[in-house]
Amino acid sequence: MSVVNQESSNITNLSPKQDDMFTNIINGLTSNPKTIAAKYLYDESGSKLFERITDLEEYYQTRTEFDILNQSHASIAKLMEKGADLIELGSGSSTKTHVLLDETNLNSYIPIDISSTMLTKTVCQLEKDYPRLKIHGIVADYTQSFSLPELGGNKRVVFFPGSTIGNFEPFEAAMFLKQLSNTLNKGDGLLIGVDLKKDQDMLEKAYNDKQGITAAFNMNLLTRMNRELNTDFDVENFYHHAFYNAAKSRIEMHLVSKVNQTVHLGDRKIDFAESETIHTENSYKYSINSFQKIGSRCGFKPVEVFVDKNKWFSVHYLEVE
Ligand code: TRP
Repeated sequence: MSVVNQESSNITNLSPKQDDMFTNIINGLTSNPKTIAAKYLYDESGSKLFERITDLEEYYQTRTEFDILNQSHASIAKLMEKGADLIELGSGSSTKTHVLLDETNLNSYIPIDISSTMLTKTVCQLEKDYPRLKIHGIVADYTQSFSLPELGGNKRVVFFPGSTIGNFEPFEAAMFLKQLSNTLNKGDGLLIGVDLKKDQDMLEKAYNDKQGITAAFNMNLLTRMNRELNTDFDVENFYHHAFYNAAKSRIEMHLVSKVNQTVHLGDRKIDFAESETIHTENSYKYSINSFQKIGSRCGFKPVEVFVDKNKWFSVHYLEVE
């Protein structure tokens, strides 16, 4: 990866490899079972719908993680120490980070996000809110390897909220953590949000909200393909289905075909049987212990874990060994 575009003195653009959506989607739809990579859910309207998911009554994760960070800020600040560099993966609007920026005496804050528009906006705002803090945004796909600039702090702490780790397959999560511990130095930290296993009904409600926002978010993928790849999905002939797969400890999201039908993609014909699905996303749920075990296998020593009173969500602090 190389620096291709210096947008401003404090944003570095590490342009991700050109993404071949057409080929990836053909491959997914012609495999058995049919799948589409979750990243394609996030076009402009997908990202807006996702923001609305995080505000839903049934979707306990965002506010619970936020409450945990607020309640534990003093202990977290102690763990991070004075003069650390805080690196956030998938920073978006950096909403959850304010409590950390307010409380801790950081050397620098490095938000990393795939969307340069979002990052530029966020960095500009943060510079106004925290005039004394060094802020340097990086546009990058953090799931690919990337190098960090020399930051000059006492240590580095990576912040990875939102239980995004749960959207990785367990082997991908392990590879990702391993790569992270290799990039960091001994004593550096990882502050990571992880959704916990819980009552099946509560989990399923979180991904099947009454207002149908999560359904709209999933279904938006069909509209996006029709617009960008010129497919002819009849959206009336599909529905959103999310359920907890207890054997695999994960929520699965699918788009289900209501009828036997054929969809065209370029010169391909994609046949759907009635009830056949496109698998669009997984969200793995961990216990505190099962997550700490993965961390330990990947070069991280569990130091502390913060949870809400209901034990719905966890924020782990781990240290590179
Ligand atoms: N990581 C969160 C989760 O798994 C957020 C998320 C990602 C999400 N994709 C989603 C939420 C799809 C609802 C639907 O819950």
